[in-house]
Amino acid sequence: MILLKKVSFRYRDSLVLKNCSLRFEMDEMHIIIGPTAAGKTTLALIVANLLKPRSGRIIIPRGNIKDVRKEMGFLFQTPEDLFFNDTVYEEIAYGAKKHHLKHIDGLVSRVLEMVGLNDEILSRPPFTLSEGEKRLVALASIIIWEPSWLILDEPFSGLDWQARKKIVKTIVNLKDNMGIILIAHQMDDIIEYVDLVTLIVDGEIVFTKPSEDVDWDVVFNAGCDIPYATLVSKKLRENGINVPIEYTVPRLIQALKK
Ligand SMILES: Nc1ncnc2c1ncn2[C@@H]1O[C@H](COP(=O)(O)OP(=O)(O)O)[C@@H](O)[C@H]1O
Ligand SMILES: [Mg+2]
Repeated sequence: MILLKKVSFRYRDSLVLKNCSLRFEMDEMHIIIGPTAAGKTTLALIVANLLKPRSGRIIIPRGNIKDVRKEMGFLFQTPEDLFFNDTVYEEIAYGAKKHHLKHIDGLVSRVLEMVGLNDEILSRPPFTLSEGEKRLVALASIIIWEPSWLILDEPFSGLDWQARKKIVKTIVNLKDNMGIILIAHQMDDIIEYVDLVTLIVDGEIVFTKPSEDVDWDVVFNAGCDIPYATLVSKKLRENGINVPIEYTVPRLIQALKK
């Protein structure tokens, strides 16, 4: 568990996070949503201990935050900017070497399969990859060392449907083995697997709720994207078809069948 208690943060004179209290559990997939500049990335960096809060506390029971930092995998918003090796193989293996793991070739093959890429990609220079491939390679380079927590900052942004699907599949396969914290504008691909939704606006937590209890009008009015199924449910209702406002396609289909 990771507990944030009244965490505030400022960059010079602007207060970016205000008294944020939050709780992350290992077995709950938690998504943080909010409009641009709400403070999502800053919050994620604080959770990963890459930034220190100016006030408030982070509590991780049974463990020291310094140790936990080693247990935090962080997929940055544009992780491909951080590539520095000559080949994809070295890029992925780097994380494993840094964590002093053995049998690296086997680990590389395993994670490559997990993210849905082929062996032929291993000898290529990372800069020659497509955006989707780059994001998947970055993800592979983190999950190879099996962090306890995986924090993903806008993992879907700018990617095509196929790459997004591969990222979703990887996350869903990992969720029983690591705590997953997502920051995402685009949530259609993942929302059906999400347990908890936190909305942050202007540095303040508006709510944390189970996905099925979220009032998507509040989210929409805060200036955020809402799930596709929710938009369709709203349109159906506007056109006299009386369905509940659903947030995933499977749930909407179920409701329509009734
Ligand atoms: N390094 C920085 N220095 C100064 N201001 C920053 C810095 N990083 C982010 N900010 C500001 O902090 C606010 C929150 O940013 P961020 O956490 O990136 O929001 P989000 O991820 O929700 O878009 C924004 O107004 C942004 O301009
Ligand atoms: Mg951000």
